[in-house]
Amino acid sequence: MVDVSEEVLKKSQANIEKSLMRVAKKKFADKPEEGQTFTKEVLSRISVNSDPAQAAKSADLVVEAIVENIDIKQKLFKTLDENAPQHTIFASNTSSLPIKDIAKATQRLDRFGGLHFFNPVPVMKLVEVIRIPETSDDTFKSLVAFGQAVGKTTVECKDTPGFVVNRLLVPYMAEAIRMLERGDATAKDIDVAMKLGAGYPMGPFELSDYVGLDTMKFILDGWSKNFPDQPLFKSSPLLDKMVENGKLGMKSGEGFYTYNKK
Ligand code: 3HC
Repeated sequence: MVDVSEEVLKKSQANIEKSLMRVAKKKFADKPEEGQTFTKEVLSRISVNSDPAQAAKSADLVVEAIVENIDIKQKLFKTLDENAPQHTIFASNTSSLPIKDIAKATQRLDRFGGLHFFNPVPVMKLVEVIRIPETSDDTFKSLVAFGQAVGKTTVECKDTPGFVVNRLLVPYMAEAIRMLERGDATAKDIDVAMKLGAGYPMGPFELSDYVGLDTMKFILDGWSKNFPDQPLFKSSPLLDKMVENGKLGMKSGEGFYTYNKK
């Protein structure tokens, strides 16, 4: 696990530990000591590093999940490409940027693809596996095998905006925000309606807060830049204002709802 900040690495390790403890509590309900051993063992297999160039030297697969900014992603992949062994496969977990544009920064288009996971990653059973025209069959097979090895169901997607899930989910969430702006119903009522009327586990506002309103805006703005005439990809004044005011959802303590900051 690589991050530029030691502080974030520590926080991420703590989050993984918390998540493992949740799993252990269920898996070893009658044997708490075994649960503790399980958590410790898994944690001991994760090494951390704040230097991507150094970490790349011993990697077979790199899954990038940094900020949704094409310049920063390309800069990172250029460094990784210069330092990783020949056989190393690169994948991006981007939610909105074309894989092809990210891959351009490297000399290994045949060993490049997308692995797109969903929040909360330990629970959601899907990973989208994305190929660009240059992705080799061997690379694609390896990415699918990796997804399956970590216990997910994989689906194959072309390199189109939002792949499958976000292409349907994000315009739906953006339309819910526009519905609120129009005054058609309250956020709470829209959430209740979609949970009880459509069977969704979370309503669109709960889900937007969960995913992060900044992430929602990053996705919509990224798509709008590439497809300015597509109304489904437009952000909205309410979303823009909330992000500008630091109301980012669960992570900032306030979004469409308020949360206890942990
Ligand atoms: N780590 C480990 N386990 C976790 C967990 C975590 N972070 N979060 C939840 N769990 C486990 C719980 O322990 C529980 O397990 P159990 O049922 O075996 O006891 C199970 O997941 C359900 O959790 P809860 O009982 O606490 O809560 P809910 O039943 O309300 O489920 C939820 C929570 C799974 C988040 C559910 O509300 C849900 O599926 N929401 C929709 C999530 C969704 O749509 N995600 C996609 C977002 S889009 C995206 O990520 C793409 C990106 O590019 C923007």
